[in-house]
Amino acid sequence: MKRSVIYPGSFDPLTNGHINIIKRASSTFDEVIVSVAINSNKSSLMTVDQRVKAIKKVFAKNKKVKVDKFEGLLVQYAKSKKVNTILRGMRTVQDFEYEMQMATSNNKLNSKIETVFMVADAKFSHISSSLIKDIIKLGGNAKEFVPEPVEKELKKILKKG
Ligand code: PNS
Repeated sequence: MKRSVIYPGSFDPLTNGHINIIKRASSTFDEVIVSVAINSNKSSLMTVDQRVKAIKKVFAKNKKVKVDKFEGLLVQYAKSKKVNTILRGMRTVQDFEYEMQMATSNNKLNSKIETVFMVADAKFSHISSSLIKDIIKLGGNAKEFVPEPVEKELKKILKKG
């Protein structure tokens, strides 16, 4: 049986930390579905389609990685994909409470859903999308934190203002 996992997130933007998790997951699972959440309540830097496009570019050569987007409840999306495993990365102890609440709630909504966690590589544990968003908005250079396709897309967005 194919072992698939959904790696959901905002990915606004995709960071080198996310990439590390996706690469490691693709050597553990047969298929990793990276899925960008559509959340109109959150103010975002990149549109959902820009995020999907950039993630697809980064993983173009990795056949195990699929990129998708979803709206609404994650458990319903997982059911529609016939996948019962959700993957989340954990960087610091601060992440734990939020992740535990999410994993527990998702399991209460659908008891078939299991969340598995991968601990971020220490090299990336300081990187977060919100921090990068701040750096970008304030004119800083995010090169060190994001892959090239994302950096290019961000530069375009900033030029347009
Ligand atoms: O990268 P993020 O912002 O930490 O990802 C959070 C995300 C998108 C995985 C979470 O907000 C989510 O699952 N949203 C979909 C709506 C949903 O199912 N909410 C209930 C989760 S308990």
